[in-house]
Amino acid sequence: MVMQTLIAEDVLQKRVAELGAQISQEYHDSDNLVLVCILTGAIFFFTDLSRSITLPHRFGYAEASSYHDGLRLSDGEVDVRIPPRLDLKGADVIVVEDIIDTGYTLEKVVEVLKAQCPKSVAICALLDKRERRVVDVPVDYIGFEIPDHFVFGYGVDMDDSYRHLRYIAHETH
Ligand code: IMP
Ligand code: MG
Repeated sequence: MVMQTLIAEDVLQKRVAELGAQISQEYHDSDNLVLVCILTGAIFFFTDLSRSITLPHRFGYAEASSYHDGLRLSDGEVDVRIPPRLDLKGADVIVVEDIIDTGYTLEKVVEVLKAQCPKSVAICALLDKRERRVVDVPVDYIGFEIPDHFVFGYGVDMDDSYRHLRYIAHETH
């Protein structure tokens, strides 16, 4: 496989720090901030973003699996699981996701989290393939808008590999 860097490590780190600074400013009044990591792809983004936020906050996570037809979502069916002790009542929740593509995953995640009665729910996605969107999900914070390439690295996998890369790459032929 020949891979090409799409977003280099220093560019990623700079943007994540900017997002952390922006969130720190916009949530400075919050006394119940919770970052919810969508496993597994968002892990490195989540840990870097968390450490760029200067406000106290709690961690939560959710697992989302979609029923794919190959790489493409066929019907938008998404299964979301949250841990039983995730306490979001009255919280300002920021959902931290790696990639928003069709939007089905985040639409379902937000629906499940809202059932826990948070005060607010915002979305922070590192990568946005906007041209692929099927459902309109309001994304509050976006790292980078990218074209419709299959990407991997920085937590994002290709067949469960390449998550360890410090940069975002895509395949070239
Ligand atoms: P959506 O439900 O179509 O918005 O899909 C979002 C999920 O699909 C992301 O959380 C990723 O897990 C996965 N995904 C979408 N595009 C890519 C990609 O280019 N590489 C790896 N995973 C992807
Ligand atoms: Mg994902």
